[in-house]
Amino acid sequence: MNAPQALVRWHDSGTSRIPFWAYTDPDLYQRELERLFYGAHWSYVGLAIEIPNTGDYKLSWLGERQVIMVRDRVAPKDRATDSGIRVVENRCAHRGVRFCQPPMDGKTGNARSFVCPYHQWTYKLNGDLAGLPFKDGVKVEGPDGECVNGGMPADFDLSKNGLTKLRVAVLHGLVFATFSEEAEPFEQYIGPAVMPWLDRIFKGRELKLLGYNRQRIPGNWKLMMENIKDPYHPGLLHTWFVTFGLWRADQKSRMVMDEHGRHAVMISRRNPNSPSVADGGANKSVTEGVTSFKADMTLQDSRLLDVVPEAWWTVDDPSNPGTTITPTVTMITLFPSLIIQQQVNSLSTRHIVPRGAGEFDFVWTHFGFADDTEEMTQRRLRQANLFGPAGFVSADDGEVIELSQDGFKQWGEGGTTLVELGGRGDDVGNAPTEHMVTETLIRSMYAYWRKAMGE
Ligand code: FES
Ligand code: FE2
Repeated sequence: MNAPQALVRWHDSGTSRIPFWAYTDPDLYQRELERLFYGAHWSYVGLAIEIPNTGDYKLSWLGERQVIMVRDRVAPKDRATDSGIRVVENRCAHRGVRFCQPPMDGKTGNARSFVCPYHQWTYKLNGDLAGLPFKDGVKVEGPDGECVNGGMPADFDLSKNGLTKLRVAVLHGLVFATFSEEAEPFEQYIGPAVMPWLDRIFKGRELKLLGYNRQRIPGNWKLMMENIKDPYHPGLLHTWFVTFGLWRADQKSRMVMDEHGRHAVMISRRNPNSPSVADGGANKSVTEGVTSFKADMTLQDSRLLDVVPEAWWTVDDPSNPGTTITPTVTMITLFPSLIIQQQVNSLSTRHIVPRGAGEFDFVWTHFGFADDTEEMTQRRLRQANLFGPAGFVSADDGEVIELSQDGFKQWGEGGTTLVELGGRGDDVGNAPTEHMVTETLIRSMYAYWRKAMGE
């Protein structure tokens, strides 16, 4: 698609109308990989606790490029300043083989070095090429005595033929990487509006890994980011949220974005005295006529809503100095590929791995804190049943994303979505919105996307 055609195809009304081709065009998708996932953006790779020991590694993805997150050897004198975490591309410098295979358990492995199976080029944990067989040729007996046949040219330089090394940023145990030398420093990339919400969950805390879910969702990857920038839907789509009072339109809420409009936080507080089951105690105006509200629905196991407030939920309010704020839910989107969820006692990272214009893999990592009691760990695990591919809540999102993609495909390229709730502008740089009846975070993300994509 060339630029003039793109301008015709994008409607003029700011980002309140998103063309269907933004979700379906395979050429556009290839450019998204180049500009967003391989360009000057930071992408999530994993958690530092997944690779606790020297040599531990885990495979992950930036877009469709597979990378290895590995814990390198670090001299004792450097340990205060160097986490040892490296991210290298899983692609042999010799003939391009994706040499590192997933460990048998599908999770993490341990290696002293990486050896490509094809011709056994060997790499250090930091991606440097350590050596290769027959680099200096093979010695044979010739008619005039010993001679050397073959080998690499004399000027072949090991140090110039290692793996692709990515820039790495580790924030409170979250690991991010970028292929780009141009990407701004990581803290600047996140920005001051969003950083306090990462600090709230992670700063100064050791994490504890609780488990994974994986699913493939047949929809464009941006639909998942939109879903977590869309506070309008949870109290309407999700029977669980509206019936049991975890997310309803009358809750105190705030929508925050970074200065570029690309990252966001949806913050909300469950109403005090909200019923733990649907007992009619809710504000009727937000449940009446909502078909997903099931007044007679009860839980067989009420422990699913055994919510225990935690001290870290309360923080100084970044928007109102001198006051505090105590959200029960924060949904953080870090463009382009990470969602961080706190919904009462359940915590997870969700990694978006695109697989073509019409599909993505969604990898959930559920976690708690190292100092949790066993009781709290069990509580977090029970509440995690709301999330993941078959989660009481999240199964709805996976399905509706598939239905969205189906709608775009059936209409063809001429259609657009309508994103006018709360305004029609690009919304970038808006002050936080103090309610949830708005699509401001979706408009701002597409304003940024258009800029980054040259659309
Ligand atoms: Fe990896 Fe040859 S392709 S060693
Ligand atoms: Fe949802």
